[in-house]
Amino acid sequence: MMVCEYKPGLEGIPAAESSVSDVDGQKGILEYRGIRIEELAQKSTFLETAYLLIWGQLPTSEELQAFEHEVRFHRRIKYRIRDMMKCFPESGHPMDALQASAAALGLFYSRRDLHNPAYIRDAVVRLLATIPTMVAAFQLMRKGNDPVRPRDDLDYSANFLYMLNEKEPDPLAARIFDVCLILHAEHTMNASTFSARVTASTLTDPYAVVASAVGTLGGPLHGGANEEVIQMLEEIGSVGNVRPYLEDCLQRKAKIMGFGHRVYKVKDPRATILQDLAQQLFAKFGSDKYYDIAVEMERVVEEKLAHKGIYPNVDFYSGLVYAKLGIPTDLFTPIFAIARVAGWLAHWKEQLAENRIFRPTQVYNGQHEIAYTAIEER
Ligand SMILES: CC(C)(COP(=O)(O)OP(=O)(O)OC[C@H]1O[C@@H](n2cnc3c(N)ncnc32)[C@H](O)[C@@H]1OP(=O)(O)O)[C@@H](O)C(=O)NCCC(=O)NCCS
Repeated sequence: MMVCEYKPGLEGIPAAESSVSDVDGQKGILEYRGIRIEELAQKSTFLETAYLLIWGQLPTSEELQAFEHEVRFHRRIKYRIRDMMKCFPESGHPMDALQASAAALGLFYSRRDLHNPAYIRDAVVRLLATIPTMVAAFQLMRKGNDPVRPRDDLDYSANFLYMLNEKEPDPLAARIFDVCLILHAEHTMNASTFSARVTASTLTDPYAVVASAVGTLGGPLHGGANEEVIQMLEEIGSVGNVRPYLEDCLQRKAKIMGFGHRVYKVKDPRATILQDLAQQLFAKFGSDKYYDIAVEMERVVEEKLAHKGIYPNVDFYSGLVYAKLGIPTDLFTPIFAIARVAGWLAHWKEQLAENRIFRPTQVYNGQHEIAYTAIEER
């Protein structure tokens, strides 16, 4: 058997062949199914982008209308799932609540008809439709309120913000939120997508696939960095404190949150788009001192770390946008999950099309032929 070199984190080892998305980290290019992210952010909607990712091409207007219609009318969650969520502790993290709720869908829709296109479509629609409802429901229930019923007359993102804040959002806020979902929908073979593909390869149901990916996304090395960016901006507190704060971090060799990326060696294209969205929000709803601090941080970090290829990543400006939209900090990662469901489902379908169960090997570094020691002799 061929012996391969062990690479911690499987760095540089292809885990699948995929046509869902591609990143050029040297040029700062991200494409979904070959279309540049800048173009999608400008011209598409989240649901259209989800369709593109999952079915491989942009929908016709009839296909898009039918898809939007199906998602719109599957937004309600079963009262038993809602009642189960009511029993979750209000101090629990919303990502844990989401993981448990997504897995619970499998209890109700457990059939595994993975060769049936109608089953696949039903699962895609159900997951895209209900994940936002579950995130918003947990947010209201942990405050002691009843969840708000989805509104069929509102688009995907406007409806989510309505369910979360109990009031219809400003159209610009809803559009900006929708663009944030487009930007977070997919990003090649990251940890949660790999997790989704491993789970998918066992031919389990799609709810287990999404639940395992949600669990993986929840960790601070993956989905959680934008929460830490907001905490860091609060800690810095003023533009004047930026330089001493950063110099202290660099001296201690501490990582600066929201900067650096394994793949991008230039500014993450999503950070550029998010910065523009933040500026639009501040222009309409009033400026924010944290934005000024962030811009100064970017300037100083570039001065000090550009030679190492350290620039803002997607998490640097996304937290500022979400905070300005009135979203609590611990919902940033669940919102990432709402978007990333599209990418996970695209990879689920791709995995099923050419499936072979994941069964990697290991480099055993333990002992052999050890005699069993009786308990009284240990
Ligand atoms: C994203 C991240 C994990 C990528 O890590 P990586 O590819 O393994 O890069 P490394 O940790 O090997 O860093 C390479 C060099 O850049 C430096 N570096 C990387 N990210 C840095 C950051 N955010 N702040 C300061 N220095 C950083 C490292 O100290 C290292 O310097 P050295 O070569 O002098 O030792 C890392 O950049 C990071 O922790 N960033 C902050 C957290 C974050 O924003 N995560 C969200 C990612 S989307």
